[in-house]
Amino acid sequence: MGILDGKKAAEHFKEQIAREATEFTRLTGKKPYLVTILVGNNGASETYVASKLRSSEKVGFRADLIRFDDSVTEAVLLEKIGELNRDEEVDGILVQLPLPAHIDEKKVIMHISPAKDVDGFHPESLGKMLIGLPTFLPATPYGIMELLDYYGIETEGKHCVVMGRSNIVGTPVSLLLSRPTRPGNCTVTITHSRTRHLERITRQADILIVAIGKPGFLREDMVKEGAVVVDVGIHRIADESRKSGYRLVGDVNFEEVAPRCSFISPVPGGVGLMTIVGLLKNTLLAAKQRRDR
Ligand code: GUN
Repeated sequence: MGILDGKKAAEHFKEQIAREATEFTRLTGKKPYLVTILVGNNGASETYVASKLRSSEKVGFRADLIRFDDSVTEAVLLEKIGELNRDEEVDGILVQLPLPAHIDEKKVIMHISPAKDVDGFHPESLGKMLIGLPTFLPATPYGIMELLDYYGIETEGKHCVVMGRSNIVGTPVSLLLSRPTRPGNCTVTITHSRTRHLERITRQADILIVAIGKPGFLREDMVKEGAVVVDVGIHRIADESRKSGYRLVGDVNFEEVAPRCSFISPVPGGVGLMTIVGLLKNTLLAAKQRRDR
């Protein structure tokens, strides 16, 4: 059983991005510039955003964080996005999700200029992806594709079962894996909460992408011997034996499933770190495209 080591792969990609960022700065006198907006104090979002900022600075980007209180109005948030859209210095805008219930997430996503949509969530980015035009790919699917590629996982002609149909992961990764590219050319099945006989389908998978948001959901008897398993879940589970008081687990019961796999991604140390690679690649692309306009 091999590990799809997101840390090792992410280091490789980050070195490459850092070299390109240095070259960008040498040519333009500017650093690629990412602005992140965080609303409220959601613990997981705080962790993700801190990690995104740290990685951005480490590869030589300029990275700023704009914080709003939970009570911020939708109008104020949209006005700030408009300001960042118009700011010639800003290359990429990321609004960390989820947002408080009184704010319409779709409206916020659609307000970000497609030229600065480094999360790849805008309908223009998603539409371009659908018809195979170059664009910003959603960060997690992008990271998963790079991880499979880094480890030379053969995807052509394989049956890939994607568990979960979210706009952020399940749906876009299904599209990317079925495209006539490398990695790609998979036969893809999407499963979700209404799927009947789930385990009959997952047991057929050569490649399983698990993105359902339930800790330890994928068990041994749901996986074929020799499958490649990519765990997209990330959950904090209370653990008194840890200094932090919690540990991180994925959607896969790792101890049970790992022995059956040819490759498996761990949590932590798997897809999460590759998501940041996707974001950094998009930000660098945004900066280059704005320079070349
Ligand atoms: N929340 C969970 N994943 C993501 C992501 O990829 N981007 C943003 N903006 N928010 C998220």
